[in-house]
Amino acid sequence: MARLVFVDQQEEFDLEDGSSIREACEGMGVPFACSEGICGSCTITVLEGMENLSEYTEAEQDFLGDQNNERLACQCHILKGTVSIKI
Ligand code: FES
Repeated sequence: MARLVFVDQQEEFDLEDGSSIREACEGMGVPFACSEGICGSCTITVLEGMENLSEYTEAEQDFLGDQNNERLACQCHILKGTVSIKI
């Protein structure tokens, strides 16, 4: 079981290892438009636990470039442990 923490909202969600973070993010107000890693509307900032997220997808690499603390919530999965994010 993994844990996704929304720091500013002081909310936490327990998620299955390997699951998408999309639903939890959507519930917390992250806007999703394309869901394909193209528009960037779902960009989140990872404060802790980046190593517990899936590898950057090609779409994320194209959109985010060298950013190393941002992810596209429609693209990444939580693998294990705790990940703290800011929206
Ligand atoms: S919803 Fe468009 S990049 Fe995630």
